[in-house]
Amino acid sequence: MTRQKTILTGLRVNNELTLGNFLGALLPMVRLANAHSADMHINIFVPDLHSIISEIDGELQQNLVTSLKYYLAAGLKINQNIHFYRQSRVPAHSELCWILNCIATMGELNRMTQYKDKSEGRESVNVGIFDYPVLMAADILLYDAEFVPVGEDQFQHLELTRRLGEKFNKRFGEIFVLPAEPRDQAKFMEVDGGIRIRDLQNPEKKMSKSSAAPNSRIMMNDAPEVAIKKIMSATTDSLAKIQFDMFNQPGISNLLQIEALVNDLPLQEVISTWAGENHYGDLKQKVATSVSTFLTDFQSKLAEIKDETIFELLENGEEYANSIANRKLTEVQQVFHLR
Ligand code: ADP
Ligand code: TRP
Repeated sequence: MTRQKTILTGLRVNNELTLGNFLGALLPMVRLANAHSADMHINIFVPDLHSIISEIDGELQQNLVTSLKYYLAAGLKINQNIHFYRQSRVPAHSELCWILNCIATMGELNRMTQYKDKSEGRESVNVGIFDYPVLMAADILLYDAEFVPVGEDQFQHLELTRRLGEKFNKRFGEIFVLPAEPRDQAKFMEVDGGIRIRDLQNPEKKMSKSSAAPNSRIMMNDAPEVAIKKIMSATTDSLAKIQFDMFNQPGISNLLQIEALVNDLPLQEVISTWAGENHYGDLKQKVATSVSTFLTDFQSKLAEIKDETIFELLENGEEYANSIANRKLTEVQQVFHLR
């Protein structure tokens, strides 16, 4: 019998989701899960132990529940292959992290860009920040996950995971299945290049929650009227031509892209609909209406999902995760003569 494969994703607790995060990261994951959950395991977990590398407040639990609700509101279809769990409730993650710490080297971890960025200029840096990628490797290797959809900023951590798994297998035998190379993962997910929603005020940049201007981004919890205003005041250009050209007309192209994604239409179809038009105001009106309908629908779905639904999914998911992770941990402990 062939082994049922696993797609695994770690969702950072994040209640402030932009339309960019949603269309670029969450929705593609939901589509991927819906397309494959009949014959693959889909592990969606909250890396809450990773969250505590920075200071956290009493909202963590509620925020975590809300984050998971986003998947359901985005259309994730639940079946027996979808597993929601919290990292902290599966102690094997921390155990394997420690064991992998004894394989990883300071040099390897010192090279991690995220560590360099987060520690730069700081007098004191906690060890968790340094060790972050090793815990992430444990998150992945415990489940023999082949596919790990992450943003480009996490590719380096994925490479490290492959390296640690490989080192381990060479020394102790084929214990871990390595995640596919980021390049091959992109192919599997059919996201060559990925989706990049632009900043509404400065379309040269990506839309980001960390940009200073609130008008530059649409938040998933924006009131629909607010979103309409933001789209109507989006920066365009003076070429008076509606066409898709990210290089010369990033503002207009961004609007076309958003229009396609929120209506679940092929981009090419939206481009053809607007070909030959030149009234930017009309396009903005249409996109504003689409986004407002989309947000209204999303927000009402989100409000309908009860906390209990998430807790039930976590209970089942954590039972599953513990059974898989503990089995793998036992194998690892055996080769280390810990058993
Ligand atoms: P932000 O810049 O909003 O803080 P993060 O760096 O936390 O976003 O990214 C979270 C996820 O959302 C990543 O998977 C990233 O690839 C995706 N993402 C972020 N911004 C965009 C965007 N403008 N368009 C598409 N995807 C995005
Ligand atoms: N490091 C990821 C991020 O910052 C979150 C994460 C933790 C993760 N463990 C993971 C993602 C394992 C995928 C697989 O977004």
